[in-house]
Amino acid sequence: MDNEDTLLMIPGPVKVAPRVLRAMSRPMISHRSAEFGAIYDDCRALLGEFFETRNEVVIMTGSGTVGMDAAVGSVIGPSDKIVTISNGKFGERFTEIGERYGQAVSVPFEWGTPFDLEKVKAALEDGARAVAMVHNETSVGLTNPAKEVGKLARKHDAIFIVDGISSIGGNEFLTDEWNIDIAITGSQKALAVPPGLAVVAVSSRAEERFRDKSASYYADLKGHMKSARKSPTQTPYTPAVPLFFALQEALHMAHEEGFAARRARTTRQAEAVRAAAAALGIELFPRVNEHSHYSNTVTAMKMPEGVSDDHLRGGMKKQGIVVSGGQEKLKGKIFRIGTMGVCSSGDILRTIQTLELVLDKEGKLLDRGAGVKAAGQALGI
Ligand SMILES: Cc1ncc(COP(=O)(O)O)c(C=O)c1O
Repeated sequence: MDNEDTLLMIPGPVKVAPRVLRAMSRPMISHRSAEFGAIYDDCRALLGEFFETRNEVVIMTGSGTVGMDAAVGSVIGPSDKIVTISNGKFGERFTEIGERYGQAVSVPFEWGTPFDLEKVKAALEDGARAVAMVHNETSVGLTNPAKEVGKLARKHDAIFIVDGISSIGGNEFLTDEWNIDIAITGSQKALAVPPGLAVVAVSSRAEERFRDKSASYYADLKGHMKSARKSPTQTPYTPAVPLFFALQEALHMAHEEGFAARRARTTRQAEAVRAAAAALGIELFPRVNEHSHYSNTVTAMKMPEGVSDDHLRGGMKKQGIVVSGGQEKLKGKIFRIGTMGVCSSGDILRTIQTLELVLDKEGKLLDRGAGVKAAGQALGI
């Protein structure tokens, strides 16, 4: 099948609207021009709504990880402690980044299991300059209690860093209300822009505690904020200009839909995937305390007994639908369907229908059409 017909149902990069793709094909402009500054300003204003924040927003060229790197490196030095909480691959990344810049105090939980806040509290009681966590752990399809950790961070006077890369714009994410000092997202997730930009919202509290200089030259938030305050607004180094064009267009699209409406649609779509899984006898992977902790941007499901990753995902791919597998220790054990950005009801139904046909071929389909019917009901069709 031609690549252009492939439907990407992975948790990022996600499908990009033609209108956003067209925006990228405009002729280049100078990144020091008033025209570029106006685009940056427009993006920053809309991103404030997207992040539910009044904090300053900077846009960095690089993938989401550069935002994580910048957040940690701008706050942590060799003698500083950072508590890193993890229950999946991306939480572990914060530990690895923390170890590069300072002393990471890791609070690990089994992948896909909820945080035990008592353990987080105990780690913070020993003193830490910062605490970092992932709100939506993409590797396991679980959302973590940022609000509760935010309260603990404030109580212990630690800078609160949250990776909202696969969350912001899809799940509820209240940067200011949850006391998040540095919040991060990536362009290829709910923003529905191609990969290559990291967006970081920084509180004045975090800025006051920035190190004089980060050990990273490029990912020093101080420099990015300084340039963003120049007139015209700019970036310290040459940015991916076409991605700024795309981001502006995508933010306008999201604004036209309404940020809250988009989140509600994303929630409905994840409900549809979860309903289809239940109807098909497929178990969800994360162990959650509350239903609301299931991710609305990525649904992680256990691979049905006796079906290989190759047959399930490979079979779907042959029909032009790409879904994700498990990462690292979960390889072959789970598969994941992303629902964020400009994903449509039709995309969900096509995905579930194809999943049913693949299961049928494997002799694992109990009730033909049950998944599509359940998804359709959840979508209000
Ligand atoms: C929660 C989370 N954090 C971090 C990342 C890393 O982002 P990137 O690959 O854009 O660097 C991802 C990417 O999937 C993610 O989902």
